[in-house]
Amino acid sequence: MSSRRPFIVGNWKMHKTVAETVGYVAEFASHLPSSSSGCDMAIAPPFTALSSAVAAAHGTTLQVFAQNVAAEGPSGAFTGEVSAAMLKEVGCQGVIVGHSERRRYYGETDAVGAMKTRRALDAQLLPIVCLGETLAERESGAALEVIARQLRAITDTLTDADVHRIVIAYEPVWAIGTGQAATPDIAQQMHRHIRAIWEATFGASADTLRILYGGSVTADNIAEFTALSDVDGALVGGASLSPSGFANLVRGALATSPASQGV
Ligand code: PGA
Repeated sequence: MSSRRPFIVGNWKMHKTVAETVGYVAEFASHLPSSSSGCDMAIAPPFTALSSAVAAAHGTTLQVFAQNVAAEGPSGAFTGEVSAAMLKEVGCQGVIVGHSERRRYYGETDAVGAMKTRRALDAQLLPIVCLGETLAERESGAALEVIARQLRAITDTLTDADVHRIVIAYEPVWAIGTGQAATPDIAQQMHRHIRAIWEATFGASADTLRILYGGSVTADNIAEFTALSDVDGALVGGASLSPSGFANLVRGALATSPASQGV
C-alpha cells in the first residue's frame, strides 16, 4: 500500500459535448462518498468542454485537466494547437502528456513529450507524463528498457524545482482499451522500476513521486492496483465515462489507501 495521497484521473479522450460534460459533473458529485476528500480526483475532457467543466466543478474538489498541450509557445503560428498558458487561463490544473494514442496516431516522440512537459511546468500546470511499452516490446523482453528510455527523456530536462510538480502514469499500450489490465505483479514491477530510476536521478523525491497505473482499470479491479506499494492511483479511460461508475471507482481506490484514511 502506498502512503502517498491517491490520485484518480479520468481521461475522456474524444468523448462528451459541453452539455454532456456539465451533466456529468453534477451527477458525479451526487455519487461521491463523503470520504472522497481523502483522494485527489480529476477529469480530462476535450478542449471544447474544459471551461464548462471548470465552471461546473467550481466549489468541489474535482480538478480539470487537459488531454494535450502544444509543444510550442507561448503563442505563435501553430494552427490547431492550444498553449499551456491558454489551458491555465481557463482553469485547468494540469495536462496529460505523451499518451500512447498521441504517440501512435500523431507521431509524438519522447522529445516532443519532454517539450510539452516543459511547457506545462512553465505555465504552472501539473503534467501527467504517460509511459508504456507495446506488446511487441514486452514480448521481446524490452519493456524495462523502453520505460527507462521514455522516462529519461523527461528527467533529463527537469530541474530540482520541477521534481515535486510532476506525476507519472505507467500505461502499457497492450492494456489500454483492451479489457486486459496488467497483472498486479507487472504493475508493481514497472512502478518500482520507474521509482528506482527517479531515485537514482533525484534522490529522496522518489518517495513522494506519484505513479499512476493506466490500462483497463475499472471499479472492479482498481483496489488490486491501489493496494500495491508503488501504485498511487490510476489514469482511467473507458471506465471514467459514466459518472456513477467513476464515483464507484474512486470508492474502490479509497478503500485500499492508508493515505486516504489518514493513517
Ligand atoms: P482505458 O484507457 O482505461 O480505457 O484502458 C486508459 C487510458 O488510455 O488512459
